[in-house]
Amino acid sequence: MIYITIDGPAGSGKSSVSRELAKKLGFKHLDTGALYRAATFLWIKSRKELASQEFLKMVKSANFYLSGDSTLYMNGKPLGEEIRTVKVGKVVSKVAEVPEIREIITQKAREIANGKRIVVEGRDIGTVVLPSACVKIFLTASVDERAHRRYEDYKSRGVSVRFEEVVKEIELRDKIDSTREVAPLKPAKDAIIFSTDGFTFEEVVSKLYSLIVEKMKQC
Ligand code: CDP
Repeated sequence: MIYITIDGPAGSGKSSVSRELAKKLGFKHLDTGALYRAATFLWIKSRKELASQEFLKMVKSANFYLSGDSTLYMNGKPLGEEIRTVKVGKVVSKVAEVPEIREIITQKAREIANGKRIVVEGRDIGTVVLPSACVKIFLTASVDERAHRRYEDYKSRGVSVRFEEVVKEIELRDKIDSTREVAPLKPAKDAIIFSTDGFTFEEVVSKLYSLIVEKMKQC
């Protein structure tokens, strides 16, 4: 097994960069944000209290599965647009703040990654979920660049949203994610910190790919 972790704040480009790197390396790819988003989707649908036993049981019993092409399934269905709505984006950090939910999702992420050659992305992968990972990357960018990226992403998916709303979403999530008590967003001590400001997507992927290949020789 070889674990590569990519952590970073909202809109840093983690998902597209991680997916492309996994493809180039011939590795699987797991987006742990999708696990938190899926739990949030369940919560919104269930109308249960956030930290209630009923809701925790529901998350615990959810069955996540990563297919051969790294599509993530929940309870037999591929996760799609339903977890990427503005509504889910607005409350996901609140859900991810609950320690009991983090514990369940961390366990599920470890089970999915176990024994694989895999790129795992999130907020606490290098620090908490897979601290023994071979290569750890912390991807970052300015709020403005990240908000633009997220805005374009919403637009391309036909989601109607104002730019100011996106800036607010990013800032609020940064604040909650970096200040929460359990597993806050921060680089692992041995992480490579990489700012994407001023680089194109292709440049980021190419630079990180070289760094990873070099670092993997020492694993
Ligand atoms: O929107 P973006 O792709 O940047 O975020 P995401 O990766 O989909 O994650 C959504 C939210 O889930 C984050 O803002 C965090 O609150 C939470 N999360 C977390 O707490 N820990 C992780 N390992 C991954 C996501």
